[in-house]
Amino acid sequence: MLQYYMESGEEMRIDKHPILSFEKKKELHFMFNGRDLVGYEGDTIAAALHDNGIMHYSNSLVKKRPRGFYCAIGNCGSCNMTVNGVLNVKTCMTLLEDGMIVESDVDEVFIDD
Ligand code: FES
Repeated sequence: MLQYYMESGEEMRIDKHPILSFEKKKELHFMFNGRDLVGYEGDTIAAALHDNGIMHYSNSLVKKRPRGFYCAIGNCGSCNMTVNGVLNVKTCMTLLEDGMIVESDVDEVFIDD
């Protein structure tokens, strides 16, 4: 069971900045581990999850430590998740699409001792 959610329910997205403006784009609905969530056109999957306060995407192979958004440039694999049934998708590099089904890789990476 994933445990690392923001408890406040506030969005993580920056919407006010002294010199930049951020227009919200088209809403995209997607499922994450059975929850219906909203992201925006142009978001990566990881950015949309982060905006929804979700930080725990999978567990490490051996020690089963939580993994999540880390390098954000496709180098570490810490953000790998199952997307539309495809394992090990780098969610920091994959753009969100309407209707996507995103699942943590927790069950796939657990190894029984
Ligand atoms: S966060 Fe490192 S590959 Fe996605």
